[in-house]
Amino acid sequence: MKKYYISQLKEGILLEKVPFVVLKKTVGSSKNGRINLILTLGDRTGSILARRWDYEGKDITIGVVYEVSGRVMLYNNNTEIALEDLSPTNQFDPKDFIPQSPRNPLTLLEELKSLVNTILDQGIKDLVKSFLEDDRFIKNFLLAPAGKMIHHAYIGGLIEHTWEVCKIALTASEMYPEMNRDLIIAGSILHDIGKVDELTYSTQIEYSTKGRLLGHIFIGAMAVKERSRGINTLSPSYLQQLLHIILSHHGDYSTGSPILPMTLEAETVHRADYLSAQVNRFYNILKDKPEERWVKGDNLLGRQLYKSKIKNLTVEEIIMSEIERLEEEE
Ligand SMILES: [Fe+2]
Ligand SMILES: [Fe+2]
Repeated sequence: MKKYYISQLKEGILLEKVPFVVLKKTVGSSKNGRINLILTLGDRTGSILARRWDYEGKDITIGVVYEVSGRVMLYNNNTEIALEDLSPTNQFDPKDFIPQSPRNPLTLLEELKSLVNTILDQGIKDLVKSFLEDDRFIKNFLLAPAGKMIHHAYIGGLIEHTWEVCKIALTASEMYPEMNRDLIIAGSILHDIGKVDELTYSTQIEYSTKGRLLGHIFIGAMAVKERSRGINTLSPSYLQQLLHIILSHHGDYSTGSPILPMTLEAETVHRADYLSAQVNRFYNILKDKPEERWVKGDNLLGRQLYKSKIKNLTVEEIIMSEIERLEEEE
């Protein structure tokens, strides 16, 4: 964790080797030939300008994290950093630069693991466990975002989204006994595992080259196929159905699925995936404008969203507010 985040910077604070990412750079020279360096520095809380006259250091690279020393000061009524020194560093925590899931990824992982323990078919259980008990996979699965912009676009977003899909799909399966619960759990957990390789997230979320060229649907299906080779308890028919869930989970050719969902479980995981993504997307749009009742959605949504002022009240709070209302009327 950094000593200072941009949102905390106030006039007079002295910064000593605090990591910030360089978002923008302008190099100018004054009439008397002095080099004027102006940087926009960022972290997960915002951005700030940093200035240095007579800059004689090395070239600054955009997108790289630098340890910054200097003093926070007011310049034309704006809070800025008067730069003293800066040097590139690899020693930083991505969580300082990309927002984090509000949920604890380890708690979600434990919950997923206990759901996997309820899978009846040994082959399906072994396959999912081979991912969840693989330390290398888990390290990335706990950190990865589920998207670059639209939904769960933060550290820990992938496991949060996966947990949501699993819970939503399982809830639906409880109403329909003809659904295969084992496939619902496994399909939900595995549906987006390709995102572990599709996205990179050091100082900002980007698509990897592999992600751009292959996409998470194909990467995920390949990963499951590869692992299945070492699992002789897994029946070929269940493997095929799990691959079908992964390949069809976007539900439509236009959104990147090569095939449409053709089993009850694939359709359910697809709908759960959509609901989890859409609720997160609405929430992100609404939370940035706490005062507004009508909020413009993103361009793809193409609609406004309405924020109801009705709160989620407990029974006690409802009773109390009713008592207060009656007392006011008397
Ligand atoms: Fe997906
Ligand atoms: Fe998904």
